Amino acid sequence: MRFVETIEKKKAGKALSKAEIYHWIQGYCNGEIPDYQVSALCMAICFQGMDSQETAWLCEAMLHSGEQLDLSSIGGCICDKHSTGGVGDKTSLALAPMVAACGAKIAKMSGRGLGHTGGTLDKLESITSFRIVQNEQDFIRQVNEINLAIIGQSDRLVPADRLLYALRDVSGTVDSIPLIASSIMSKKLASGADTILLDVKYGEGAFMPTAEKAEELANAMIAIGKHFHKDTRAMITNMDQPLGMAIGNALEVKEAVAVLQGRGPHDVTQLCIEAGSIMLMQAKLADDKQTAQALLQEVIADGKAFTKLKEMCSCQGGDVNQLEHLELLPQAKHIIELPSKQSGYLSRLHAQKLGIAAMQLGAGRATKTDQIDHAAGIVLRHKVGDFIAQGEVLAEVHTNTELSNEWIEAFYDAVAYSDEKIEAQPLNAKIIDNG
Ligand code: URA
Repeated sequence: MRFVETIEKKKAGKALSKAEIYHWIQGYCNGEIPDYQVSALCMAICFQGMDSQETAWLCEAMLHSGEQLDLSSIGGCICDKHSTGGVGDKTSLALAPMVAACGAKIAKMSGRGLGHTGGTLDKLESITSFRIVQNEQDFIRQVNEINLAIIGQSDRLVPADRLLYALRDVSGTVDSIPLIASSIMSKKLASGADTILLDVKYGEGAFMPTAEKAEELANAMIAIGKHFHKDTRAMITNMDQPLGMAIGNALEVKEAVAVLQGRGPHDVTQLCIEAGSIMLMQAKLADDKQTAQALLQEVIADGKAFTKLKEMCSCQGGDVNQLEHLELLPQAKHIIELPSKQSGYLSRLHAQKLGIAAMQLGAGRATKTDQIDHAAGIVLRHKVGDFIAQGEVLAEVHTNTELSNEWIEAFYDAVAYSDEKIEAQPLNAKIIDNG
């Protein structure tokens, strides 16, 4: 099979066969097909797309490029959730313990942050000594014992995705729905859960610019889930402004604890309850949304959800004391209050710009090898729709370095006002299930 013919075929808008797709992925992984040919094919896919059958085969070929976790020795339904990434998205830190406290099993592999979006692993590592690496037996034992473990993705799963994603990143071929869908789903399927909930975000701080595009991506991933007979559902949520108030690792751990203690910001809490109720229904621990939501409220109110986070922290070597005494988490040397420059209703807190500003403080990575400053970040005091008077504190900046004038200017550039009263930005969670 000459690979150039596969490229030509896709360039002409034709569907690739299963054999062609397997040849591509296997040939790329074993070094027989060079980067330049694969980037040409990815570019052709960006323009011509792939149908749902091709996308499923691509996901399957990627999945088979490495090992798959066998979680069959975990009793009960193993639920997973994936967010396509956002700013201030600490959902997993609160949601996973909530759902585990209700009886579902969470054996989760998470990723690190890159660019303006954060990653769950970096957030967990702001807890001193928290171990995100575990061997398979310990991972399974922990889930059997306490229903919950969150660790880093093993390098042995989906090596094809690591190669392809790095190539797509430098060849302008990230933003293709079939390529994104197969990339995300191959990793989710390899990590062995029984059910998958996808939080597909759209807006200023998300991969997908519009709700329509997010829905298209969600449908592509749900179709892959169907191909593998996995209960896969999705929620489409807005990411025009950061989720919650905190952006930055230790700051987000504090906010997740607040959610688990029933005193978290409304939007994060609402997202966790929405997502959690779907996961409990997927796990057949609740028949309907109302029952599921009541179970989740109960584990927040009686402290079981917060206890579950502490149990996970303890099992993974983290300092539980820091969760009980949040002031023991990494603290920045300086906390600088930024005042509002004018009075009015906040009409925009541009998620991507604020995510980049937090990254520049050290809360995120511009490149994969950058070190994280776990204490750094931004805490908003207001959200879109709030009225704020000139001079009132708009946000706190937690930093270990001096703020430059350029940084401050960039921060204010993320903010806009309206004289007219405007509505708080809804999360707009649209649910798509696989029915
Ligand atoms: N996240 C992934 O894991 N893969 C993509 O292709 C895009 C976002």
